[in-house]
Amino acid sequence: ADAVDNIRLYWRAPSDPLIINIPNGKLRGKDNGHYYSYESIPYAEPPIGELRFEAPQPYNHQWTEIFNATETPVSCVQWNQFQRGSDKLMGEEDCLTVSVYKPKNPSRDHFPVVVLLHGGSFMFGGSRIYGHSNFMQEGTMIVVKINYRVGPLGFASTGDKDLPGNYGLKDQRLALRWIKENIIHFGGMPDNIVLIGHSAGGASAHFHLLHEDFSQLAKAAISVSGNALDPWVIHESGRAFELGRIVGCGETTDSAKLKKCLKSKPAGELVSAVRSFLVFSYVPFSPFGPVIEPKDAPEAFLTQHPIDIITSGKFAQVPWAVTYTSEDGGYNAAQLLETNQTTGETWIDTLNDRWFDWAPYLLFSRNSMKTVRDMDEFSRNIRQQYLGDRRFSEESYLDLQRMFTDILFKNSVPKLIDLHRKYGKSPVYSFVYDNPSDVGVAQRLSNRTDIHFGTVHGDDFFLIFNTTTFRKTIRPDKEDISKKFIKMLEDFALNDKGTLTYGECNFQNNMNSTKYEVLRITRTGCKNEQYEQLP
Ligand SMILES: *[C@@H]1O[C@H](CO)[C@@H](O)[C@H](O)[C@H]1NC(C)=O
Ligand SMILES: *[C@@H]1O[C@H](CO)[C@@H](O)[C@H](O)[C@H]1NC(C)=O
Ligand SMILES: *[C@@H]1O[C@H](CO)[C@@H](O)[C@H](O)[C@H]1NC(C)=O
Ligand SMILES: *[C@@H]1O[C@H](CO)[C@@H](O)[C@H](O)[C@H]1NC(C)=O
Ligand SMILES: *[C@@H]1O[C@H](CO)[C@@H](O)[C@H](O)[C@H]1NC(C)=O
Repeated sequence: ADAVDNIRLYWRAPSDPLIINIPNGKLRGKDNGHYYSYESIPYAEPPIGELRFEAPQPYNHQWTEIFNATETPVSCVQWNQFQRGSDKLMGEEDCLTVSVYKPKNPSRDHFPVVVLLHGGSFMFGGSRIYGHSNFMQEGTMIVVKINYRVGPLGFASTGDKDLPGNYGLKDQRLALRWIKENIIHFGGMPDNIVLIGHSAGGASAHFHLLHEDFSQLAKAAISVSGNALDPWVIHESGRAFELGRIVGCGETTDSAKLKKCLKSKPAGELVSAVRSFLVFSYVPFSPFGPVIEPKDAPEAFLTQHPIDIITSGKFAQVPWAVTYTSEDGGYNAAQLLETNQTTGETWIDTLNDRWFDWAPYLLFSRNSMKTVRDMDEFSRNIRQQYLGDRRFSEESYLDLQRMFTDILFKNSVPKLIDLHRKYGKSPVYSFVYDNPSDVGVAQRLSNRTDIHFGTVHGDDFFLIFNTTTFRKTIRPDKEDISKKFIKMLEDFALNDKGTLTYGECNFQNNMNSTKYEVLRITRTGCKNEQYEQLP
């Protein structure tokens, strides 16, 4: 009779693909036609109240009812550069969730997994901005997106163990553990996870790689236009004391007291204080970000400079790709073309008078230089190198853009290849994306379409995860590139040889070469290039 009952049960309850069983209980997702979604699943306790400014605590509840996993993920509370108008506050403090997207593909029941770390300078952004619909059309991979704390709530630090910082990075790491443990319940292959991040997300992916045990969490990683050595990534100061002064916590030098006060303030007030850290427009674009924590910080994420970690050889030996676009710096240069409606001037005009004041914020030399004299000398030399004796103007715009590309995104790439080559064991790949978009970050920030910006920050990434803003019209070449990128990720997650391919091109491993091996990806295809020095 038992056997008959079991069969009856089995037949009565065919598995419902919308219901997923995880150790916390059952959750219900949504059918979106060609894929399923399971959104806003908590991986950590809400980082509110006493848990604000603390390392995330694993989510630890047993659901008595079916958890509703159909809500679009809310972004963590932030001062968002891309929000128009003067009030740029958005998002919520209770935001630590992952969202899982699974293709409907009857020919497969298990899928390799790609995990997305969003960009946004460690200050803003969120998983909802990166569309997955085109990705799901390929039907080949599960996509998981992580929300993590950003801005003051993600990174404010006093530099000691009371308020050590890096909460946003600790969130990501907890989420990666959640994914490793739980993705099997969604049909994901836990041994075939590839981590990809863009900009601050790319730098984050690199930080994870710099933990030896990352090899237990993922099989490979890709840092797109952002890595741990970019000058805007590591901050000299977590700026919690300044933050405290702005929100009315007084002039205290006592970290514990400050923390208590900061915990008592409304989240929106702390985040709106970002305004006071901006010198003009949204400059510097990351006033808060990762810091090196003291050795005695509880649950520290980063206690050594990335260069020292790499030099020690104590990092995960998994295949890694580090990339840039040919004009990444358009992200920084284009906003200088914006016209101030009051004065009719563009920031680029004003730059001629304010270069020595603004360059340290634009180029993040404040993070590495101690004295005003050093900064001034750096600003003078850099200007001379890129502009000679010309003025900052629309006419010299492309040289200014090149300056930003080199300093903020590109110079770090050969430096890292050298370091990984010397101290690492696993493959290191690189590509440069060189295929201008018609609508991208530069057009958006400058509100100009009459300038040929070239291939700007995000032009590649937004083809993998498309957005409404940047992908209104789909050119056939972009459709093709998008498919090739997605195939590249699938292969990277599945193959056991650690090789990487894009279209008909095999990436060359930098570990085996004395030259820099870079795959150039263009409108018409791809090409392996070797350089003594990146062009
Ligand atoms: C689940 O959440 C969605 C979105 O908020 C809502 O529309 C729906 O009614 C909820 N379903 C249940 C069963 O509560
Ligand atoms: C435009 O310039 C005025 C005067 O310098 C300044 O107060 C204002 O903040 C500027 N507007 C923007 C959008 O930056
Ligand atoms: C290339 O480098 C890898 C280390 O990343 C090494 O294991 C491999 O043997 C090298 N291959 C060739 C063809 O030299
Ligand atoms: C963008 O430029 C157009 C004119 O080219 C202008 O009408 C519009 O107000 C501008 N938008 C913003 C947000 O500055
Ligand atoms: C992404 O692209 C797909 C197909 O290419 C399109 O259907 C979808 O609307 C796009 N999503 C967004 C958010 O733009």
